[in-house]
Formats: sequence, C-alpha cells, structure tokens
Amino acid sequence: MTAPDVLSCRSLVREFSRGRERRRAVDGLDLSVPAGQVCALIGPNGAGKTTTVRMCSTLLLPTSGSISVLGHDVVRDTRAARQNIGLVLGGERGFYLRASAQENLRFFAAVQGARITRRALSDVLDQVGLADRARSRVETFSRGMVQRLHIARAILTRPALLLLDEPTIGLDPEVAVEVRSLVRQLVAEGTSALLTSHSMREVELLADTIVVIAGGRTLAQGDAQAIGAAAGIGEVSSYLIDDWAESYRSQLLSSPGVRSVDVHARGLMTEVVVAWRSGAVPGSAHLPFLVRGEKTQAAGLEECYLALLADRGRSGTGGAPDSLIDAAS
Ligand SMILES: Nc1ncnc2c1ncn2[C@@H]1O[C@H](COP(=O)(O)OP(=O)(O)OP(=O)(O)O)[C@@H](O)[C@H]1O
Ligand SMILES: [Mg+2]
Repeated sequence: MTAPDVLSCRSLVREFSRGRERRRAVDGLDLSVPAGQVCALIGPNGAGKTTTVRMCSTLLLPTSGSISVLGHDVVRDTRAARQNIGLVLGGERGFYLRASAQENLRFFAAVQGARITRRALSDVLDQVGLADRARSRVETFSRGMVQRLHIARAILTRPALLLLDEPTIGLDPEVAVEVRSLVRQLVAEGTSALLTSHSMREVELLADTIVVIAGGRTLAQGDAQAIGAAAGIGEVSSYLIDDWAESYRSQLLSSPGVRSVDVHARGLMTEVVVAWRSGAVPGSAHLPFLVRGEKTQAAGLEECYLALLADRGRSGTGGAPDSLIDAAS
C-alpha cells in the first residue's frame, strides 16, 4: 500500500465578499503533497497562493472543498491536523524582541500546548544554526537570523508538513541561500512542504512538483517537465548576432517549431532568444541572420511560467485577478 499524502486539497474554493460582490480567490484547486516532497504553488500577485496556505494551516475556513493533513480533515479535525503543521510566513515579525531566541521558542511551544524539553530546544536551535545565539535577544538578530528563528518555531514540534509562504521574501541572496538549504535539509530528513514563491530559481531548486495558478485556478501542474509540456516549450536557443531588424521577428515566428522570440541588447551585439515548441528540433539553418554564437538548453521554469501566463492573457481570461461569481447577491 502506498503512504497517504501528507497534504491533500480537493476542489478547494474560497470566496471573499467585497462590498456586494463575492469573489473567488481560490476556485476549485486540487493538489497533493506526498511524503518527503516539496510542492510549489506559483502564480502572479493575487493568484490565491496565500489564501490556499492559510486554509491549509487551519487559519481560514474553506468555502467548499476539502483539505486533509495526514488524513485529518482541517475543518472537522482541526486539532489533529494542526499538530502536524508548521507555518512559516515570509517577512513575518511576531517575536518578542526583548526576549531571547530560546525564551521565544519556549513561549510559542507553550501556546501550541506542546511540552518541549531542553534538549529538543537546543537541537532545533542547532539545526537552524542559532545555537550560539540561543540566549541573545531577538532585537539583536539580523533578518536572516529572524527568518531562521521562524523556521525553528515551525519545526519545534517536528511537524510532518511545513507550509512556507514566500519564506525568502526580502532576504538578501546569501541569506536566501541559507534558508533554502535549511529547507532542503528538513526535506531530506523526511519533512514535506507546500511552498509559495515568486523566485523561479527557488522553485527549481526545491520543488518536486509545481502547481501554476492564476485567478484561483490551475493553469498547469506536475514536475518541471510537465510544466514545460503544458507551456508547449521544449528547448530554448540563444543566438548572438550583429544587427537586429524588427522584420526578423515575424520571419522567426512563422518558422516551424518556434513558440516565442525575445530580443536583448548585449553590448554591441544582440541576443535573440528563441523558445522552441515541445518536440521541435532547434536549428539555426533557416535563421534570417548570421549567428556569431549560440547556445541551446532545456527551457527553464521562468520561460514556461511566462508562456503559460501570456497564453492566459491572450485567451481573455486574464482580466480580473480573481473571478467574480455573483454581483448582486
Ligand atoms: N481577507 C480578505 N478579504 C477579501 N479579499 C481577500 C482577502 N484575502 C485575500 N483576498 C483576495 O483574494 C485574492 C487572492 O489573494 P492572495 O493573498 O491569496 O494572493 P497571492 O497569490 O498570495 O498573491 P501575492 O503573490 O501578492 O502574495 C486577491 O484578490 C485578494 O485581494
Ligand atoms: Mg501571498
């Protein structure tokens, strides 16, 4: 028998009232996080990511649909579900600044009704790299240290599931790398996670599966390859050329296999980036310009994500950030 998913959301809907209107921030979302995996939820501002995380964390009730954490329904069996969840919100404050790291952690453990031994506390602080600052006041911490303390708070009770809503937002690149490697370490030890992020690099580094949402609805989901297939992009070629003429764009776009064309100035030269349709064989034989240098590689998540959102914009469903369901009731 296969192990049950650590997190499972089925037909999840959340509506909010805005004046006389009711809008769907989350509109029929399905997602699963198997044990020991990271699922990334990505999408533009207002897509419904935080709303989804809040529902999974038991902080917000779904309008309809279901969420279970290790088989515990978050609405009917809130306590049991909550015991298996650690929540980390990016840019969060929420610590007592004049108390020490360990005093804060003890306090939050008590609030959760968890009894935490001295040993467990020092293990957690050690794991997030704050062992030598256990007795320092939080007001003396850098933002990176505060964010590591948030992760310490989330893993105090060793939950099976971490909910990470933009955990590296506002952190400098070096600290973001530190936080990501901490998440990787926790996942390697068996923790599962639902992650939201606007950093495609972070998602590529951490996620086993990806759900792309916009307007509360799923545009694509699966591993990086599946997202590439949904976006219809296989490989991406970058060509360095001397001179660019705008007429090249339509010539390229009408060539077989070309999905999109982007042009960037590179000093005295121009870089032309051609995204090829899945299955197309990239080739420079029919290009309308002389190529000085070229590189072809598998499409990155960013190109696929942008293509999916551009398609949505073109199909006319991208107007409202969330879907209006009834204007009069
Ligand atoms: N408490 C609320 N009351 C009314 N509307 C809300 C509330 N919370 C969220 N919304 C709306 O729900 C939609 C989704 O918001 P949400 O915060 O989930 O987006 P997000 O994907 O997390 O965006 P971001 O990338 O900016 O963090 C938005 O249109 C937002 O205005
Ligand atoms: Mg958000």
